[in-house]
Amino acid sequence: MPIRVAWLVIPAFLLMACSNEQAGNDVNARWYTQSLAENGRLVFAQHCSECHGKNAEGTADWKKALADGSYPPPPLNGTAHAWHHPLRALMRTVNDGGIHLGGKMPGFKDKLSESEKAEVIAFFQSQWNDQIYSAWLQRGGLK
Ligand code: HEC
Repeated sequence: MPIRVAWLVIPAFLLMACSNEQAGNDVNARWYTQSLAENGRLVFAQHCSECHGKNAEGTADWKKALADGSYPPPPLNGTAHAWHHPLRALMRTVNDGGIHLGGKMPGFKDKLSESEKAEVIAFFQSQWNDQIYSAWLQRGGLK
């Protein structure tokens, strides 16, 4: 091709290659829809944020045990270790809480519907950046 056309076409291909790469990390590639996460924000505000914070930011000192040996509510926004747990383990925590393990979190088994439980998880996962979300997937988050 004439050299001048090549100068136009090659950068266009490079641009396309880059934006394809980004699409792999897009929020739209997550297991939940945007509207599921948005509903979850309301359920989270009603049932979880008093402990875990409005945006799931948790307690700054979440690693430090309290006087009774239990731990403060951790962040669920990707900065602590919620992303080490696959979806079904997160669901188990929402259902059973942590009191039976010596913790403080109440269980929501009968307080939330199955779809509300999925919504709150979608909401706090929507606070995870793409890097954390991919790391979670690679650890078998959906398995
Ligand atoms: C009364 C305070 C309280 C409420 C309300 C609460 N949590 Fe918790 N949550 C905790 C505490 C404290 C922990 C740490 C484990 C424990 O002590 O039970 C925890 C742990 C968790 C974990 C495990 C995090 C990890 O890194 O392993 C998840 C997930 C979680 N909570 C989600 C929720 C969701 C979703 C809701 C609302 C449906 C909720 N929590 C409501 C206090 C609370």
